[in-house]
Amino acid sequence: MKEIPVANTLAELRGGIATWRMARQRIGLVPTMGALHRGHLALVEEAKKRADKVVVSIFVNPAQFAPHEDFDRYPRTFDADLTKLAEAGHADAIYAPSVSEMYPEGFATRINVGGPSAGLETDFRPHFFGGVATVVSKLFLQCLPDSAVFGEKDYQQLQVVKRMVRDLDLPIEIIGAATIREDDGLALSSRNAYLNAAQRQIAAQLNKILRLAAKRARDGVPVPQAEAEAQAALLNAGFDKVDYVAIRDARSLQQLDTLNDEARILAAAWLDKTRLIDNMPV
Ligand code: PAJ
Repeated sequence: MKEIPVANTLAELRGGIATWRMARQRIGLVPTMGALHRGHLALVEEAKKRADKVVVSIFVNPAQFAPHEDFDRYPRTFDADLTKLAEAGHADAIYAPSVSEMYPEGFATRINVGGPSAGLETDFRPHFFGGVATVVSKLFLQCLPDSAVFGEKDYQQLQVVKRMVRDLDLPIEIIGAATIREDDGLALSSRNAYLNAAQRQIAAQLNKILRLAAKRARDGVPVPQAEAEAQAALLNAGFDKVDYVAIRDARSLQQLDTLNDEARILAAAWLDKTRLIDNMPV
């Protein structure tokens, strides 16, 4: 098993990447917050199909957590992450900067993306996409990759990143990768580690209820009714709170009065203090 070099500073990262660039190699980037699972590893594998060298960043980004959110308890499993990446064999470098390396004293810039960042997650986590866009744009400028892979699991985030790249003319191809799921359909997530056995059972209903709502909408049930049915079904299944269940246009994420061919159902729901999200095509 080959050990993967770890860069903790921007200078180290740029040194390594400069050597690859001189050899005219294509660079792929996979941004993560660590606590890696098969979903993350699938992104790394996808990145390697399109690039000669793949950088995986591991950085729990404080800018995308509100003060009351789970930044402190977010799982940090760096050694296990390294082993998983080395075993999978697709990553060529790991970039794991400290918070002060990423946000040095006096850091004062924030990237705000409009369009797809309106509504859904933003109604409940208003600070979130500003923090994501800021760190992702920094990671892009630090690595200068040819391509970067993001998961459809965080579907609104993927649309926000695509919008930002178009708006800022960043010469980076953004690739969306399918959601990797457990056998019962639960989307893999670093936050699944918070679930106890009983909650884990309920969590598996999320994808099933969304799948059913998507079918209901396709079968002609009006969009607001399909959404309301899914919301009620989630509470009935044992979710403690539902932030939203919404059928939206897949690109703009705008509301749909009637179903079009490119619709997506997205949801966020709570099991006690754990917030789960999922989405799928309608
Ligand atoms: P994180 O939650 O660690 O996710 C990193 C990447 O893995 C994201 O693109 C996410 O969509 C993808 N991912 C997560 N679960 C997945 C699954 N089950 N199947 C496929 N892909 C999955 O998303 C973030 O980190 C951060 O917001 C980040 C983009 C790194 C910025 O800080």
